Amino acid sequence: MSLKDKKILIGVTGSIAAYKVAILIRLLKKQGAIIKVIMTESAKDFITPLTLSTLSENPVLSKYSNSETGEWHNHVEMALWADIMLIAPASANTIAKAANGICDNLLLAVYLSARCPVYFAPAMDLDMLAHQSTQNNLQKLKNFGNTIIDSTSGLLASGLEGKGRMEEPENILKLIEGGLKKKSDFKGKKVLITAGPTQEAIDPVRFIGNHSSGKMGYAIARAFCLSGAKVELISGPVNIDYNHPNLKIHKVDSALEMEKKAKKLFPKSDISVLAAAVSDYRPKTKAENKIKKKNGKNLNIELVENPDIAFELGQKKTKNQRLIGFALETENLRKNAKEKLIRKNFDLIVMNKANDSDSGFAHDTNRISILDRYNNLTEFELKSKEELAFDILESIRNFKG
Ligand code: C5P
Repeated sequence: MSLKDKKILIGVTGSIAAYKVAILIRLLKKQGAIIKVIMTESAKDFITPLTLSTLSENPVLSKYSNSETGEWHNHVEMALWADIMLIAPASANTIAKAANGICDNLLLAVYLSARCPVYFAPAMDLDMLAHQSTQNNLQKLKNFGNTIIDSTSGLLASGLEGKGRMEEPENILKLIEGGLKKKSDFKGKKVLITAGPTQEAIDPVRFIGNHSSGKMGYAIARAFCLSGAKVELISGPVNIDYNHPNLKIHKVDSALEMEKKAKKLFPKSDISVLAAAVSDYRPKTKAENKIKKKNGKNLNIELVENPDIAFELGQKKTKNQRLIGFALETENLRKNAKEKLIRKNFDLIVMNKANDSDSGFAHDTNRISILDRYNNLTEFELKSKEELAFDILESIRNFKG
């Protein structure tokens, strides 16, 4: 895909890797992109504004205003101008400030005003990158919907060897191309997603639940938002905080609440992805008060079956709607998934094993395969759930009903 006339805003911060940005700008310009650069003050210790303004063919900005000309650089305008924002190299300092809403320079003000996809390419010494505070900040940025371009390992400017090098310009270019392609693929589409576990109350303080973290469902919601879709996300109780202008979150606790919302929203949705781990059973009654110990006697809780939301939506599905389900199994994965796909009238089913050590519930990574209604199987290697979300979108796009 050509980057012709794509507007790319590059934020450069203080790191030795700033020299690589010169190469990146050349590559982007060759593809026809329009580049604007904002530098932090400390970035200027590593590369000159003159180099970057010459290569980008645009003035390089670092202050809110130019005291000589009295010109004001409108950070909101700049943020809204961009199709994509890339902060490269992203220092530990800028990452920490962006993750915490600190806004003490032009670059951060533009970042906070941006509505486009934002990419961070961290570059720092290995211990700074590995520090828990940096890792927490990177996780926060991911939760905001930003993309982190993972640092690579090798020789660092400090002389140490390890992870912390900024990704090479050629690879950043590929990621940006991919990101721009994804941006408008589902523009105008209405998407319904269920995510997370459900909690089925036993009494006012206890419930039956499961280990679902909601990470996969939220990653899919994020991928759809970044691809231009309008997303309604029905979420069980999870520890994820994600916002996007295209996203509406409906928080629920139990399967019955999830069912009610899903039935209401389903008729208007073009694509529904059911990633929630809905409890199959719920206590028949919820005790009014906290259940007390019974002096050595067993406690029996009668469970009744919950509605199968996926099955119910599958019954109502029209010709133009797409329904995607998940199958998490501990055995006979393909056979069970196939049965589920037919019974629930899914178009696609995403399969994963519950007992893999590096995938499934609560992990950041997953190993999935996708089976469609016509028995086509696509297998994916172990990847982050964020990346897999885009693979799932790709399969939905390629599915011809
Ligand atoms: O039957 P099983 O629970 O394994 O099916 C998994 C798929 O069905 C998932 O897509 C899940 O979100 C959906 N499901 C549902 N309502 C249920 C149980 C599962 O929507 N009660």
